[in-house]
Amino acid sequence: MTNHSAAHIKIYPASRLRGDFHLPGDKSISHRSAMFAALGKGTSVLRNYSSARDCQNTLDCFEAMGVQIARQPDHITIEGVGVNELQAPTTMLDVGNSGTTIRLISGILAGQNFTTEINGDESIQRRPMKRVIEPLTKMGAQIEARDNNFAPLKIHGGNLHGIEYTPPVASAQVKSCVLLAGLFAKGETSVIETTPTRNHTEIMLQECGVSVQQEQIATGRRIAVQGGASLQALGDYTVAGDLSSAAFFLAAGLLVPDAELLIRHIGINPSRKALIDVLQQLGGRIEIKNERLAHGEPVADFFVQSSELRGDLELSGAVVANLIDEIPILAVIATQLHGTLTIREANELRVKESDRIRSIVDNLRRMQIEVEEYEDGMRIAGQQKLHGALIESYGDHRIAMAFAVAGLMATGETEIHDAQAASVSLPEFYELLAKLT
Ligand code: S3P
Repeated sequence: MTNHSAAHIKIYPASRLRGDFHLPGDKSISHRSAMFAALGKGTSVLRNYSSARDCQNTLDCFEAMGVQIARQPDHITIEGVGVNELQAPTTMLDVGNSGTTIRLISGILAGQNFTTEINGDESIQRRPMKRVIEPLTKMGAQIEARDNNFAPLKIHGGNLHGIEYTPPVASAQVKSCVLLAGLFAKGETSVIETTPTRNHTEIMLQECGVSVQQEQIATGRRIAVQGGASLQALGDYTVAGDLSSAAFFLAAGLLVPDAELLIRHIGINPSRKALIDVLQQLGGRIEIKNERLAHGEPVADFFVQSSELRGDLELSGAVVANLIDEIPILAVIATQLHGTLTIREANELRVKESDRIRSIVDNLRRMQIEVEEYEDGMRIAGQQKLHGALIESYGDHRIAMAFAVAGLMATGETEIHDAQAASVSLPEFYELLAKLT
């Protein structure tokens, strides 16, 4: 591999991988830890906070609202102001590429007695925001948006009342947005999830001393918070390593011929773990070791070895929601499977950082893989030869990283165009990968 910091990265076939390493903190958990530390009263020290550009944007947004944040090399100190003490920012908040930042913060901003403008990059401006505008408007916020759906958003907050809301899409971002707004609303706010999504918000709210009622009802899971709750500081909090980043190294470990990797202290929350279960079912040699609970989140170490993956997979519904961020790398894995992968009901992929169905299909075809594209998914027959090619990241971190891993198994040279997109979630990615070969 060459030029770690360059816009274009070249990847060459690997015949051996060895490594024993940690990964930076989970992106979803890091965002929430910054938000909750800011809203909690008192000092929080966040360790292993994600180095992702997205998570840095979340910190910037809270700094712009008067929260004191000190960024030391191995931890971040946040002086939480309490739920009602954020200050109106003097400029437009900028979330960069981060969907989690804009959707979760919108819930917090809807509860403030001031008006905020918030925007992000070109990708963010194409992503649907109606999914948060709608419930927040029902709660009493006024939100202006381009075509009532797209950033920039102008949020006039305050005077919220609780609602019961069933999101029309399976989305942890929408669920979290509504629950966060619920902290500022009169009465009870509840979300009914018909398809379960990652539950880091529920876990961390409880870590901050907020009571979150959860019950199974006929239509799904009902999650409720009471308005007027106050949050305790998170205190000394270590973010679990990012499972979605680990997925790229797990894939490399399974697919490169002579590979053995130990990846330590990774979050294995059941609402995020479907990829691991699927890979193990296919015969992937992934050992989960040293399982433990840290701040309410299960974590473990992974020992992964080269494996022959065998079986036909048809994924749809809840499992797709659970491994939604891992589909780019799963598609790459599928090219080497003794079997066929079919993914359906994954329309959400069309509105991620890029249209991920298009980005995956296009790049697989560049590598001479036959793949069928559906409006809501794709079908990939395994045991195909990956050919080195020029890959287009579409400015999407997970596409850049998934196809860098594909390059390790491909013939000849694979060049990733706009490779630095990876820094949106894992700036260290190419350097880490190079160390393993
Ligand atoms: C996230 C939820 C998911 C996921 C995203 C992070 C979160 O998005 O794709 O990368 O931290 O809540 P949706 O909730 O929109 O599915």
